[in-house]
Amino acid sequence: MNDVLYVNGGTPLHGEITVRGAKNFVSKAMVASVLGETPSVLSNVPQIRDVGVVSGLLALHGVGIEADPVAGVLRMDPTDVESAHVADIDAHAGASRIPILFCGPLLHRLGEAFIPDLGGCRIGDRPIDFHLEILRQFGATVEKLSSGIQLTAPRRLQGTKIALPYPSVGATEQLLLTAVRAEGITELSNAAIEPEIMDLIAVLQKMGAIISVDTDRVIRIEGVDRLVGYRHRALGDRIEAASWASAALATGGDVVVKGATQPEMMTFLNTFRKVGGQFDVREDGIRFFHPGGDLSPIVLETDVHPGFMTDWQQPLVVALTQAKGLSIVHETVYENRFGFTDALRGMGATIGVYKECLGGSPCRFGQRNFHHSAVVSGPTPLEAADIEVPDLRGGFSHLIAALAAKGTSTVRGIGLIDRGYEHFQDKLVALGADVSRA
Ligand code: EPZ
Repeated sequence: MNDVLYVNGGTPLHGEITVRGAKNFVSKAMVASVLGETPSVLSNVPQIRDVGVVSGLLALHGVGIEADPVAGVLRMDPTDVESAHVADIDAHAGASRIPILFCGPLLHRLGEAFIPDLGGCRIGDRPIDFHLEILRQFGATVEKLSSGIQLTAPRRLQGTKIALPYPSVGATEQLLLTAVRAEGITELSNAAIEPEIMDLIAVLQKMGAIISVDTDRVIRIEGVDRLVGYRHRALGDRIEAASWASAALATGGDVVVKGATQPEMMTFLNTFRKVGGQFDVREDGIRFFHPGGDLSPIVLETDVHPGFMTDWQQPLVVALTQAKGLSIVHETVYENRFGFTDALRGMGATIGVYKECLGGSPCRFGQRNFHHSAVVSGPTPLEAADIEVPDLRGGFSHLIAALAAKGTSTVRGIGLIDRGYEHFQDKLVALGADVSRA
C-alpha cells in the first residue's frame, strides 16, 4: 500500500528544506480570482492536494487554469465563469472546506451557488453557521438540501454590519470575498486578523477593493462595481515551518527552513525559545535547532492571532514529551484537538487530557465536556508503533513522534499529510531521516 510510511526513528534531523506558500492562504487567493474580470497569477504555490482540489473546483466553474507546479505558478482566467453541474460539484463533497468560500464570488458572478457537503480535518464540529448568517445578511437566500447548500441572490448583495461571535478565520474570509463587490459599506467587528487574512486583503486590494483594517478587530469594506485580476506571491507557510521546527526540537536536530519568516512566526518563536529551542533568523529563512541539554516545560494556550496558533499545537506537543517536567496546554480554538495524543501515549508519552480549562483563562469549551486541556509529563523516551494518521496536523505530529522514537514505526493513512505538506517524504530524506513507503 502506497499510503503507509515506514519510519526508522532515533536520528536527529539535520539539513535544509524549503517551505512555499501557505496552504491556508493559497486556496483562498485562488477563490478570489473568480471575482476578477481579467486573469490572475499567483506564485509560490506549493504542490499539495488542497491546491489540486481548489483547481478542480475552479475548472468546474469555467475558470481556465494553467499551472507550472515546479515553478509554483498558477494562472487563473475567470472570463467564462459559469454554473457547474451539481453532480460534478458533488464529486468534491467531503474533500475540503474551501467550497464554502466560493459562495460570495459565485453569487456576484452568477446570482447562484451550490456548495457540497464540506470536508476538512475532524478536529471538532466545525459548523458553518457564521458563514450562512453572513451570506443571509448580505441578502442571499440560503436553502439547505440533503446534498449541500443552494444559494441565490435575487438582487445585488448589499453591504451590511456584522459582529462575529468568535473571530473565525473562514467567516472573516467569507465576509471579505462577499463584501468587496456588494453595494455599499460593510463593517465587520470581532474579525480574525491572521497573516493569511492580511495577505488575502492585499490580493483584494490589488484587484481594486477598498478595505481598511481598523483597531480592535474591525474591518471596513467599501464595495466596488468591478474587480480585475491580480499578480501576487503567496506568503510562506508558517504552519509547515513550525512543524519542521518542532521536528528538529523533538529529534534533537538542526533544521534550516528556507521560506520561513519571522514576523508571522513571532509568537511561535517566543514559545520555541521558552521550551529551550534555539533559532537563528536568516535572510532566506530560519534555522531551528536543539542546543543540547534539557528542554523546559511550559504553560501554553492556543488562541486566534496574534496568539499561539492551534495548528502549531500538535507538532509542539510531541517536542514537549521530551521536556523535563510538566507542561500544560489549553486548546481554545477547537474543542477536539487532542485525539492525536492517544497514539503518543501508545508510544510511551505521558499525556493526560482534561475537560477543565487548565493553566489559563476560561474558554468557550470549559464546562462542556470537551477534553481540551492536556498535561504532558516528560521526558519520556518514545518507542516505535503502528499508527493511523487522524488528521493533517495530528498526522504530522505522529510522524515527528516516529522520527524521535527508537525502532521502526508504521504510519498509515499518510496520504492525508499530502493535503498540506509539500513533498514531505523528499524533505524527510533530505534531512537524513530513514523512511520508505510500503
Ligand atoms: C482555518 O479553519 C484553517 N483552515 C485551519 O487550519 C485553522 O486551524 C483555523 O482556520 C484556525 O486558525 C483553512 O484555512 C482552510 P475558524 P477555519 O473558522 O476557517 C468555530 C489546518 O490544519 N466556528 O477560524 O475553518 C469553529 O468550530 C486547518 O491547516 C463556528 O462555530 O477555522 C472553531 O471552533 C485545520 N462557526 C472556531 O470557530 C462557524 O461558522 C475557529 O474556526 C465557523 C467557525
